[in-house]
Amino acid sequence: MKKNPLVLLVDDIPQNIQVLGAILKNQGYSFALTTSGAETYQLLHKTIPDLILLDVMLPDEDGFSICKNLKADERTKDIPVIFLTAKNDTSDKVNGFKVGGVDYITKPFEELEVIERVKNHLQAKLDREQIKAYNKELEVIVEQRTNELLKKERESILAQFIQGVVHNIRGPISSALAANDLIHAMHADLNDKINEGIHGQQLINQLAEVWQILELNSEVLRKMASNLESMLRKSRTDQMQENAICDLNEIIQQELDFLDVDLKFKNQVEKHFHLSVEKLPVFVLQGDIAQIFENLIKNAMDAMYKTPNPMVRIESGSDGSFHWFSVEDNGPGIPEEIIDKIFDSFFTTKPLKSDPNALEQIPIGTGIGLKFCKKTIESYKGKIVVEKGRSIGAKFTVFLPAFDFAH
Ligand SMILES: Nc1ncnc2c1ncn2[C@@H]1O[C@H](COP(=O)(O)OP(=O)(O)OP(=O)(O)O)[C@@H](O)[C@H]1O
Ligand SMILES: [Mg+2]
Repeated sequence: MKKNPLVLLVDDIPQNIQVLGAILKNQGYSFALTTSGAETYQLLHKTIPDLILLDVMLPDEDGFSICKNLKADERTKDIPVIFLTAKNDTSDKVNGFKVGGVDYITKPFEELEVIERVKNHLQAKLDREQIKAYNKELEVIVEQRTNELLKKERESILAQFIQGVVHNIRGPISSALAANDLIHAMHADLNDKINEGIHGQQLINQLAEVWQILELNSEVLRKMASNLESMLRKSRTDQMQENAICDLNEIIQQELDFLDVDLKFKNQVEKHFHLSVEKLPVFVLQGDIAQIFENLIKNAMDAMYKTPNPMVRIESGSDGSFHWFSVEDNGPGIPEEIIDKIFDSFFTTKPLKSDPNALEQIPIGTGIGLKFCKKTIESYKGKIVVEKGRSIGAKFTVFLPAFDFAH
């Protein structure tokens, strides 16, 4: 316990003050005295005691009303209040609890009773404060850990993305090079024919072939350029640091272009898009919404890793004041008993690390994806809702306040 807990005695009867004062002093408590409501408020303005012993009858205001006021004030609401009541007055005891008192001591005072009750409530207050402090510390640690993991996750998404880029560009580059080699090989033969003055159908056919190869190469290069463009656009918008008016549909479309570099998503998942025709303006950091969308898609893909015909359905729309988008899969869905936990920090049903020797690669997770989504969406005054998919699977819907142009 604190070295010298401060106990405030609020009473105007000299005999009570004398008896209680002596008991408290003997216990080594610091002790303050006020004799009216007005005086009490004045003192509490300057000092916050660890406990208050409050008489019911005071000259200017009754103890219940004082206690009620203290409990309504943020500064004083946590100070335990023990009422001093007459032995047989049940209604005083009941009223004391009703206005937020923690206990009562009856008159005439029994020294041992006073000592025990005061000691217990001081200890209980100390325990509460300690728990509060631990919780605060824990919150800070969880926040730090979450941020570290989010950073790691972003890095791993980026690494995956780069792998996709390399994969998508390496293929076209080798076919463009092979085509070039082919033209090169044909070049000598064509040159000879031109030099020898052979300008017949054969030459025309050969030139048409070269033309076709060049066309194919242009197509490949155009595709690569557009791939790079979409990646550049994404990295640019991910780095934007200020909220802006963005169209939800456009963000989703851009993310889908980006996800298309992931071959698994591109080829093995059946996709249904039902995006609203009208624009859905929201005032956000585009990168935030992109990350939320990526998380929901990644969760859906993870959930469907054993599903024979994986399917995602992406929809968007508006109910006027909120615009929304949803990601739905046909995986195993979310069991009833964990549905309340999936938004908690570090809640995951996936292993933290993959087993390099395992035959099949089980999706891994840290359990921060949905926590991040919820926190971010709520910071925009939106909400995220989870429900069952249409037959099986899970469906997550994100609602964001519609941007009000009239504002
Ligand atoms: N589409 C889904 N279908 C089935 N279960 C899901 C789906 N989305 C989330 N869950 C469940 O919710 C849990 C928490 O998801 P969350 O995204 O927060 O973490 P994680 O995916 O496990 O790990 P992380 O996102 O940090 O890599 C998942 O482990 C999974 O059990
Ligand atoms: Mg996840």
